[in-house]
Amino acid sequence: MAEAKKLFIKTYGCQMNVYDSERMAEAMGGEGYVQTDKPDDADMILLNTCHIREKAAEKIYSELGRYRGFKEANPDLKIGVAGCVAQAEGAEIMHRQPMVDLVVGPQTYHRLPDLMAKVDKGEKALDTDFPEEDKFEALKSRPKAQRGPTAFLTVQEGCDKFCAFCVVPYTRGAEVSRPVDRILTEARDLVERGVREITLLGQNVNAYHGAGPNGDWTLAQLIWALNDVDGLERIRFTTSHPNDMQDDLIEAHRTCDKLMPYLHLPVQSGSDHILKRMNRSHTAESYIRVIERIRAARPDLLLSGDFIVGFPEESDADFEATMDLVREVRYGQAYSFKYSTRPGTPAAERALVDPGVANERLQRLQGLLSEQQYEIQNSMVGREVSVLFEKTGRIQGQMIGKSEYLHAVHAPVENVVRGDIRKVRITHSEKNSLGGVLTEG
Ligand code: SAH
Ligand code: SF4
Ligand code: F3S
Repeated sequence: MAEAKKLFIKTYGCQMNVYDSERMAEAMGGEGYVQTDKPDDADMILLNTCHIREKAAEKIYSELGRYRGFKEANPDLKIGVAGCVAQAEGAEIMHRQPMVDLVVGPQTYHRLPDLMAKVDKGEKALDTDFPEEDKFEALKSRPKAQRGPTAFLTVQEGCDKFCAFCVVPYTRGAEVSRPVDRILTEARDLVERGVREITLLGQNVNAYHGAGPNGDWTLAQLIWALNDVDGLERIRFTTSHPNDMQDDLIEAHRTCDKLMPYLHLPVQSGSDHILKRMNRSHTAESYIRVIERIRAARPDLLLSGDFIVGFPEESDADFEATMDLVREVRYGQAYSFKYSTRPGTPAAERALVDPGVANERLQRLQGLLSEQQYEIQNSMVGREVSVLFEKTGRIQGQMIGKSEYLHAVHAPVENVVRGDIRKVRITHSEKNSLGGVLTEG
């Protein structure tokens, strides 16, 4: 038998890309490729890319530059670019970096086998269509290999919201929800292979409306069905939009025992003027009302958010409104970014805020958000949490996992294996994790 060819995949961007990379590795597995973690040893290098900010996209070209030497050493090496940069820039990538053999968008990677056949003949392959067929259906079924205790599962893709700064509606296309039965089948399959926690993914996951047995289902209905899957212990979902936070989903946070008390709900800005110019279609006030309703249903819920500072026209007063909103909400975790102009988006034509001012605002916001993160971490000390253990720690005898609030927790353990869920009393808080001790055998 011929020796297996080696595939190196590097993933950038959001969790959906992580999921897509797994699926691409499986598709390439059918073509005789096994994964390697060493690019210099690979027969094929695939970059699964992100276009969300300028830096993210530019990183791809510098990474490709690093591979030039590999290609000189091994002329048979194939190089591919997948994901959102592939979708946004298409053939331009091959013009800028002629050593790239393959460009494939996020909606066409099920065609990788055909595209690879072209590449193997020495031709360039490019596919950035938005096809009619369901890529997940078209993919070959997964090999039944054992998996780690946590997994992502894409249930909804694309976005129709068109926030003025954002490339996602262009790179991922229109909002589409996968049918309920396919998702449940995939979830059961993951559980059979050792998965205990599933995070449902979508660019607007709470707008999910997939075809179910009696018409379209909401995300809450889907979560309730997953709650009945034996062996699945935890359910999460991300990312949600404030306007799609329906009553039944809020109610699920009160009553659904496997749904974890964590919610990522980006707001982007606390200023109504800026929110309007961002085309966010919610106000600071309506966002805070949503948070109040969720917290009434689940008082211990940990909130996380996304922020953009220095959006065109953002004044000092607009920025202070963001700071005020953060003080009012209190986030356990947050991601904040300086506005980055994305060609082709509505905001791209607008005048930029002075970069020095934007940097200063970002630092102040990040200072406040870290303060809140540490306050909430410190408030966990003395509390008992339940931890899904995922891997061994740096220290002998220690394992690391996640609490229900998604805090990384490490503890000295005995008789615990990957995938076990145990009660842990938190004893101290570190920079990006919590330490604790098991409270039961
Ligand atoms: N679908 C999600 C996330 C989209 S991208 C949502 O609607 O929230 C993830 C985050 O990147 C966004 O929430 C936003 O904070 C940030 N982002 C998107 N475009 C950006 C841009 N042009 N400049 C800076 N940050 C951006
Ligand atoms: Fe982008 Fe807005 Fe859609 Fe989120 S809701 S993916 S920020 S356009
Ligand atoms: Fe980036 Fe595309 Fe995700 S632009 S954030 S990889 S949807």
